[in-house]
Amino acid sequence: MGFTLCVPCLFGLEGLVADELRRLALPDVAAENGRVYCTGGPEAVARANLWLRMGERVLLELGRFPADSFDALFEGARALPWESLIPADGAFPVTGYSLNSRLASVPDCQRILKKAVAERLKSRYGLQWFPENGAQHQIRFSILKDQVSLCLDTSGEGLHKRGYRPAHSAAPLRETLAAAMVELARYRGKGDFRDPFCGSGTIPIEAALIAKNRAPGLNRHFAAMDWPALEPRIWTEAREAARAREFSGDYSIGGSDLDPKAITIARANAQRAGVAQLIRFETADALSFSRSTDRGVIVTNPPYGERLLEKQEAEELYRGFGRALQRCPGWQLYLLSSHTEFERCFGRQADKKRKLYNGMIKCDLFMYFKKQTEKEG
Ligand SMILES: C[S@@+](CC[C@H](N)C(=O)[O-])C[C@H]1O[C@@H](n2cnc3c(N)ncnc32)[C@H](O)[C@@H]1O
Repeated sequence: MGFTLCVPCLFGLEGLVADELRRLALPDVAAENGRVYCTGGPEAVARANLWLRMGERVLLELGRFPADSFDALFEGARALPWESLIPADGAFPVTGYSLNSRLASVPDCQRILKKAVAERLKSRYGLQWFPENGAQHQIRFSILKDQVSLCLDTSGEGLHKRGYRPAHSAAPLRETLAAAMVELARYRGKGDFRDPFCGSGTIPIEAALIAKNRAPGLNRHFAAMDWPALEPRIWTEAREAARAREFSGDYSIGGSDLDPKAITIARANAQRAGVAQLIRFETADALSFSRSTDRGVIVTNPPYGERLLEKQEAEELYRGFGRALQRCPGWQLYLLSSHTEFERCFGRQADKKRKLYNGMIKCDLFMYFKKQTEKEG
């Protein structure tokens, strides 16, 4: 069985997700806006779900076709081999979106697609009515400029839900974005790693998972595990292979936050993620951050002044943090903020910037990797 895999991702992460798929040795990798394609068999579905750190889900694309009328949508959907994956008792809810297209009404598209898939299954299974009391086969459609893509969702819950973060502190960062920040900082387990605004600990936890080469989805369930069309052994084999690839070593990963409650949550999250032994969490003010070693990397997500603090308070914080980091000239910094005046307040122009989206908030990852000269602070 050969599939076209479609991995939606946060805008700005397409290149990183494409690299992840290439590292999994999956062929035909092609990045588009907000999603990345590749091909592969059932084993690829299991491996991609288990290993992707930055993709949001793994979809199987059954077909793509142009449609600017409900008839074209119905006929296009009915022509696809849904029965190859959806069994007679399978539940097949439909969800999706439409952008810049003539078929703009999402509820109408949902209704037409549901009918088209049901018609197809009726003709193949000889049934008039479907109980839909079996495994979930979520259909996801997208219509972009009158081009329809129809997929089945193999992940179920989004891949950012690793299972370690049921508890929430204020404004947590999505796990996929945290992993991308660690990746962009090129941290792979060597040297000192710190997040001085760690909140619920997402960034240090993702760093620890990367350092250990732990598959982020190792301990969670995926929707396609319940699909009769895919053999159960693909999941057990992918899990066993992933366990065999884990590293163990001594890592220097730390997270701190001014709020002791956040630190309690971060510790509990790290415990659930199985990396509590690898991370030192402590309550501390980022403004008194000082170097413990000459070199290291800070990957962090301070308040932006949109949700947690007022803008002015955020600016004051950036100024103070800029002063603190002048005492650590050998340290690199990768800091995510939506604050347009960040560099001015921090006191230094970034060596490089990269646009990333934290949910709906447009942010920059400010990257400082060139060595600066030490100043007395
Ligand atoms: C945007 S949140 C970080 C969210 C985090 N990345 C997560 O995944 O949960 C910013 C954090 O900065 C902390 N903070 C604010 N001022 C601070 C300071 N002066 N020193 C250390 N932490 C501070 C807040 O308590 C909050 O947890």
